[in-house]
Amino acid sequence: MSSCADSEGLSQRDPLPDDALAATFTERNHPALHYEYMVGDKLRMESYKKVIVEAVKPGDVVADIGTGLGVLAMMAAKLAGAKKVYAIDLNPRSLWMAKHLAKANGVADKICFIEADAQQVELSQKVDVILSEIIGSFGCEEGVAEVITRFAIRNLRKGGICIPSKVNTFLIPVEYTDSFRNGWTSDNAGLDLTLPMQIRMTEEPVRWYVRGRQKELSEPLAVEALAFDSEHIFEGKVKRPEARDLVFSVKEPGTLQGFIGYFEVELSPGTSLSNYPPYDKCHWENWHWPVTPHVEVFQGDRLRVEMSRTFVPGTTKFAKESKDKLSGWEPVYDWAIKWDCSRPPES
Ligand SMILES: C[S@@+](CC[C@H](N)C(=O)[O-])C[C@H]1O[C@@H](n2cnc3c(N)ncnc32)[C@H](O)[C@@H]1O
Repeated sequence: MSSCADSEGLSQRDPLPDDALAATFTERNHPALHYEYMVGDKLRMESYKKVIVEAVKPGDVVADIGTGLGVLAMMAAKLAGAKKVYAIDLNPRSLWMAKHLAKANGVADKICFIEADAQQVELSQKVDVILSEIIGSFGCEEGVAEVITRFAIRNLRKGGICIPSKVNTFLIPVEYTDSFRNGWTSDNAGLDLTLPMQIRMTEEPVRWYVRGRQKELSEPLAVEALAFDSEHIFEGKVKRPEARDLVFSVKEPGTLQGFIGYFEVELSPGTSLSNYPPYDKCHWENWHWPVTPHVEVFQGDRLRVEMSRTFVPGTTKFAKESKDKLSGWEPVYDWAIKWDCSRPPES
C-alpha cells in the first residue's frame, strides 16, 4: 500500500509487501487485539471526538503522533474537515491496519501515513494541530513530553495547538477498599482471604486497575505538571522533574496500605480525562506502591515521599514483544519511591 512523499527515507525497516506484513500478525501483536482496549474505552473515544471536532477547523493541516489504528487522524479528516492529516507511528502493523481503516472510512486520500519515530520527522509543511494519545497509566511514562516537544518544535506553526494541552500526574496515599482488593477480602465465598495483601511486596510499582475510589488519607499532590502550548514548547519550558519531594498531611485516621499514581489529562480547556477515580471501561490501569506491612496513621501525621525517575528504554510490553525488524522504539520511565511517616509531638 502506498504512502506519501513525506514518509520517504523515514521508515525504520525495509517495507514488506502488504501480504507479507499481514502474515506476521500473531495473537500477541495483531492490531485488533493490541488496540482493542483503547478503542473500547468509550469515554476516551468520545472525549477526543468532541475536542477534535471543536478544535480542528475545515482546511486545517493536522498531525496525529502515535496514530495506532488512525482513529484520531480519521476523526480529524472525516468529522472535522481537516484538509490533510499526517499520521505517524513506529508500529508497521498498526499502520497497515490504519491504512485499510482510512480506506473503509473514505478518507484515505486525506491521510499521509508515516512509519517513523515522530521525534525524527520533519514534514514538508507546518501543522495547525497536533493530536496524540501517548498517555501512560502514570501520565508521561511513555515519553509524551519528549515526543510531542521534539515533534512540535519542528512542525507546529506558531500559534498552533496540541491536544492534549496538559498532562498532570498525581500521587495519593490510600487505604484500599474491597473494590481494589478484588478477591483478597474478608468474606470471599465464606473465606477470609485478606492475608496475602499484607505480606511484604516488591518495592517496585505494581500496575493494577483501581476499580473504584479508595479511602483517601490525604489530598493528592502533583508529581508532574506539563503544558503543551506555544510558550512551553517554543521557549523550552516543558520540563520534567527527575526527582520530587512530597509531604502529605494525613486528614483522617486509617491504615496506610499504598500510594496510588494517576494522571489527569486536559484534552482542551473544559474537557479532561483521568484514571482516578476510574470511570466505566477506563482502559488505563494505575500505578501502586504497596505499603507492607500496613501502617496505622492519624490525623496530622506527615508522610514524606521521595520520588525519583529513571529512564529505562525498551522495557514496555510492546517493545519486549516486538524485538524483531518490525519493532519500534518506545521509551519508558520508572518512578521509585521512598517514604517515612512522622507524627507531630503532642502539645
Ligand atoms: C496509546 S497508543 C494510541 C493510539 C491511537 N492514537 C489511539 O488514540 O487509539 C500510542 C501509539 O503511539 C505510538 N508511539 C509511541 N511513541 C511513538 C513515537 N516516538 N513515534 C511514533 N509513534 C509512537 C505507539 O506505537 C502506539 O501505536
